[in-house]
Amino acid sequence: MTVQASDVTRTYELDGVSVPALRGVSLEIAVGDYVAVVGPSGSGKSTLMHLLGGLDRPSSGRLVIGGRDVAGLSAPEMARLRNETIGFVFQAFHLLPRTTAVDNVALPLVYRGLGARQRRARATAMLERVGLGHRLHHRPNQLSGGEQQRVAIARALVTDPSVLLADEPTGNLDTVTGEAVLGLLEELNAASGVALVLVTHDRDVAARARRQIVMRDGVIVS
Ligand SMILES: Nc1ncnc2c1ncn2[C@@H]1O[C@H](COP(=O)(O)OP(=O)(O)OP(=O)(O)O)[C@@H](O)[C@H]1O
Ligand SMILES: [Mg+2]
Repeated sequence: MTVQASDVTRTYELDGVSVPALRGVSLEIAVGDYVAVVGPSGSGKSTLMHLLGGLDRPSSGRLVIGGRDVAGLSAPEMARLRNETIGFVFQAFHLLPRTTAVDNVALPLVYRGLGARQRRARATAMLERVGLGHRLHHRPNQLSGGEQQRVAIARALVTDPSVLLADEPTGNLDTVTGEAVLGLLEELNAASGVALVLVTHDRDVAARARRQIVMRDGVIVS
């Protein structure tokens, strides 16, 4: 599955003021890709990630996710396409606070028509894969930052997506833990062929990707 953006713009309307966050971006995410997105704060990186993942729609331009033009999709169709093809990891983990690790990870499988036992089994297997087989029943506030981020990664991958979008996945972690999380993402990219798109402020992290996209003021400058 690929994601193609052609001359995509996104303008936010806020209190009668137009904020042009993306001003014409073209980009293709290929199967098994490993792309780093860099650029100053406010340059449109998160806005681009939301579009690539089908969380938001462009104001103009063409966006095709897995062969489907998002302009022609209803909100439920978008949600389904997302659930089937995209995994998201955010800087601030976004885990459900009163829910155990295994149930956080199993949640996206609810929309797959799997029974509770199967959902738990798959969530458990994915948590083992990220090295958290011994923390299945901990809640987020009982886990370290790196462990919470690994739960978020497991949740993003449990549906077996084609594309994993990670918006500063190591931003809240110390260097050593960030390195481990990044290593894990790269291992999954190499092993299962999931395409990786990573927003980062860290030059060393960006240098590890196969491609780098530099954004400035809502456009790709290189
Ligand atoms: N919901 C919104 N409503 C109005 N303006 C917004 C909204 N979201 C983002 N913006 C504006 O759009 C621009 C791009 O924001 P975006 O979050 O994509 O930047 P970013 O590159 O991810 O920055 P950072 O590195 O700080 O996360 C910014 O000027 C921001 O203020
Ligand atoms: Mg951002």
